[in-house]
Amino acid sequence: MSVDYNGPDATKVKSMFKEIASRYDKANDYLSFGIHHLWRKKVVKWSGASVGNSVLDCATGTGDLAIEFKKVVKAGKVVGTDFCAEMLEPAPQKASAKGYDIQFSVADVMDLPFEDKSFDITSIAFGIRNVQDPKKGLSELARVTRPGGCVMVLEFGQPNLPIFSQAFNLYSKYVLPKVGGLITGKPQAYSYLEDSSSNFPCRKDFVALALSTNAFHKVDFVSLSGGIAYIYKCYI
Ligand SMILES: C[S@@+](CC[C@H](N)C(=O)[O-])C[C@H]1O[C@@H](n2cnc3c(N)ncnc32)[C@H](O)[C@@H]1O
Repeated sequence: MSVDYNGPDATKVKSMFKEIASRYDKANDYLSFGIHHLWRKKVVKWSGASVGNSVLDCATGTGDLAIEFKKVVKAGKVVGTDFCAEMLEPAPQKASAKGYDIQFSVADVMDLPFEDKSFDITSIAFGIRNVQDPKKGLSELARVTRPGGCVMVLEFGQPNLPIFSQAFNLYSKYVLPKVGGLITGKPQAYSYLEDSSSNFPCRKDFVALALSTNAFHKVDFVSLSGGIAYIYKCYI
């Protein structure tokens, strides 16, 4: 696989997320049977985040991963950014309902408005697959992370267990667009989810993509739920 992977058009991605933003959380819970919450907890655990750390979660959407980090870093600073203002809309209220002070703002991961080395940990969940130039996004995440810190990536991939993988492919191709479409009114967004996930580099291919930025000295990964999703830990 080539490390020159091109992501989708940014304008199209932004308008797609704008259209599903108000029903995004509900669709996530139904379509993943709530498992995505467990995956996020694993990201936070593996990142090694501890009390007082500063964390930036990019493409944070409705803020779930930022909130998960805040639970652990407590008084540490947590910032959540996304380039789609509508996706961010529910995030401040979700955080404050839990008593968390998290700063949310609009920013493109390919051009982050932060100084070099300003965070202990940075992260992106189900976002990098949607970024037009994923290598630029990873490089920006690395730039704003301090040496010794890490960039955590949670992303879909392709399961590689024969029977499970066939069953999952049928679920993604037929059930996802139907149910996602019923919840959000936008079945195309869930066909895009299937399409982009089945094409996005995973396992050693994503590791090669990340290492090709020359921003990391090591990238490790674990597979989740039979390879439906992966966590990558990119060491600065
Ligand atoms: C599938 S959602 C994931 C949201 C959230 N991280 C989660 O785990 O639920 C993908 C998000 O990536 C955002 N996104 C895509 N490209 C982006 C970019 N270049 N900069 C910032 N956000 C981006 C979209 O606006 C959307 O909110």
